[in-house]
Amino acid sequence: MQIIDGKKIAGEIKTEIANEVKSIIAKGHRAPCLAAILVGNDPASETYVNSKEKDCHEVGFTSKIFRFDEKITGKELLKKIEEINTDDSIDGLIVQLPLPKHISESNILLAIDYKKDVDGFHPQNVGRLMLGLPTYVSATPDGIVELLARYNIETSGKNCVVIGRSNIVGRPVANLLSQRATPGDCTVTICHSRTKNIKEICASADIIIAALGVAEFLKADMVKEGAVVIDVGTTRTKMESGKYKLTGDVKFDEVAPKCSYITPVPGGVGPMTRISLLKNTLKAAKKEIYG
Ligand code: GUN
Repeated sequence: MQIIDGKKIAGEIKTEIANEVKSIIAKGHRAPCLAAILVGNDPASETYVNSKEKDCHEVGFTSKIFRFDEKITGKELLKKIEEINTDDSIDGLIVQLPLPKHISESNILLAIDYKKDVDGFHPQNVGRLMLGLPTYVSATPDGIVELLARYNIETSGKNCVVIGRSNIVGRPVANLLSQRATPGDCTVTICHSRTKNIKEICASADIIIAALGVAEFLKADMVKEGAVVIDVGTTRTKMESGKYKLTGDVKFDEVAPKCSYITPVPGGVGPMTRISLLKNTLKAAKKEIYG
């Protein structure tokens, strides 16, 4: 059994990106630039945006954070997005979610220029993913596929079961792994809350991607000997000490001994999701997808 070290791979990719940024600057171009819009004072969102800013600086990108009071109107926010859309000094734009209830998230995401949509949430980019065209793949699906690639895990012809059908993880990762590609060429089954015989379906899988958001859902009797298990879960659970810890969707201690490869939580998929934003911002700066 091999533990997939997402933290290590994320560090390696960061070094690769930092080297590429150095060569871009050496050629006389400016550094890639990511803008983030943060509305309100949600502590988790603050932490996410600060981490993204730190990542940017570590690889040599510039970043701009635009903070707004939670009372900002949708119209005012749209005006700011339009300003950033037309600002040639900014390559990528993310609007940190969730937004306050009075603002329509789908309207805001639709307003971001898809050429700058480094979160990969715009329907244009989601549609291109569906079609197998070059696009900004969203963070978690991209992180998963990158881990499979970096560990040279064979996916062609394998039975892959994705547990969870969310628009940002389950469905895009199922789509990517079913494409004629490497990693890819899997026979993919998506399971969800209405699936019958979920235990039997999982037990037939060569690769399981657990992305349903239920702590320790996947037990040993649902996993075949030699399976690859990717755990996307990040449930915060309170320990006896009163401190919180992250728990995955997989009962790691009992599942791990049966696996050929498994991702831990934390330190598996999580660190990779931050890397995807850097990869997409670099692609945007190089005009790699839309010219
Ligand atoms: N909130 C939680 N995760 C994300 C993310 O990946 N992107 C944005 N924009 N908001 C988030």
